[in-house]
Amino acid sequence: MARIIAIANQKGGVGKTTTAINLAASLAVMEKRVLLLDCDPQSNASSGLGVDTSGLAHNLYSVFFTPEKAAEAVYKTSSPYLSIMPATTDLVGVELELVDKMGREYYLDEVIKQIQKDYEFIILDCPPSLGLLTLNSLCAARELLIPLQCEFFALEGIVKLLQTYEQVKKRLNPDLKVLGVVLTMYDIRNRLARQVKNEVRKCLPDMLMESVIPRNVRLSEAPSHGRSIIHYDVKSKGAEAYLALAKEVVLRKPAAKR
Ligand SMILES: Nc1ncnc2c1ncn2[C@@H]1O[C@H](COP(=O)(O)OP(=O)(O)OP(=O)(O)O)[C@@H](O)[C@H]1O
Ligand SMILES: [Mg+2]
Repeated sequence: MARIIAIANQKGGVGKTTTAINLAASLAVMEKRVLLLDCDPQSNASSGLGVDTSGLAHNLYSVFFTPEKAAEAVYKTSSPYLSIMPATTDLVGVELELVDKMGREYYLDEVIKQIQKDYEFIILDCPPSLGLLTLNSLCAARELLIPLQCEFFALEGIVKLLQTYEQVKKRLNPDLKVLGVVLTMYDIRNRLARQVKNEVRKCLPDMLMESVIPRNVRLSEAPSHGRSIIHYDVKSKGAEAYLALAKEVVLRKPAAKR
C-alpha cells in the first residue's frame, strides 16, 4: 500500500514545497515509485519541477470532482520513478465549490484512491492555510510531515497545526499519524535556531526528525531551473540533507501514539 504523506504547515514560506519536491525526488532516486501531488493553487511544486501547466490538458483541479479520471492528470517527469499531478490557480475555486458539498473533506481521498496502487509514496504539497484543500490532504494522507523553520513564533504555529491534526484524527481520519517535524533552513550558527530545535525536542518528544535541512542557496536556485536539488546539484549540502531525510522516511514508521 502506498504511504501517503501530507507536507503541511499553515505558515507560509517554511519550506513545504522545497521539502515536497526534494523528498519526492530523493525517494525516486532510491527507486521508489513516487507521485508528487501538488495541492496548492500557487502550483510551486509543479513549476519547481519544470512543469508548464498551461500546456497540459489535465491537472488536479480538472479531476477533483471526477475522481475516475484521476490517472489522466498524472504526468511523468524526467526522473524515471517520479510522476506528478500538477496544480493550477483554478484550484483556488475548490475551496468555494466544496463549501456546501456533503463529505467535502474527502474529495481528494477519492482522487488518490483511484491511483494509489501505482505508487509506493504519494507526497502532498499543501497550501499555507488550514482551509479545505489542506483538510482534504489531511483526510487523504496517513502521515503528516511538518516542515518547521526555526524562527520566533514557530512553535505557536505548530501548536495550532497539531490541534487541527488531533481534530482531524478524532473526527475525520483516524488513520492519520504524525511522521515527524523536520527543521528547514537551519543555520547552526544562529542561536535562536538552536533554541527552537531544543524546544521542539522538549515539547514534542520523538517527533523531531534526525535529518535537518540546512539553509542552502542551491536549494533556492533549483526551482528556477525546473529541477529538484538531486538533478540540479547532487553534491550540494541541500541534496545531501534531502537524501538523508528520504532514507529516514523510508525507515521511520509513524509511532502509534503520535
Ligand atoms: N533549505 C533552504 N535553503 C535556502 N532556501 C530555502 C530552503 N528551503 C526553502 N527555501 C526558499 O524559501 C522560500 C520558501 O520556501 P518554500 O516555497 O519551499 O516554502 P512553502 O512553505 O512551500 O511556501 P508557501 O507557504 O508559500 O507554499 C523559497 O524561496 C525557497 O526557495
Ligand atoms: Mg509551497
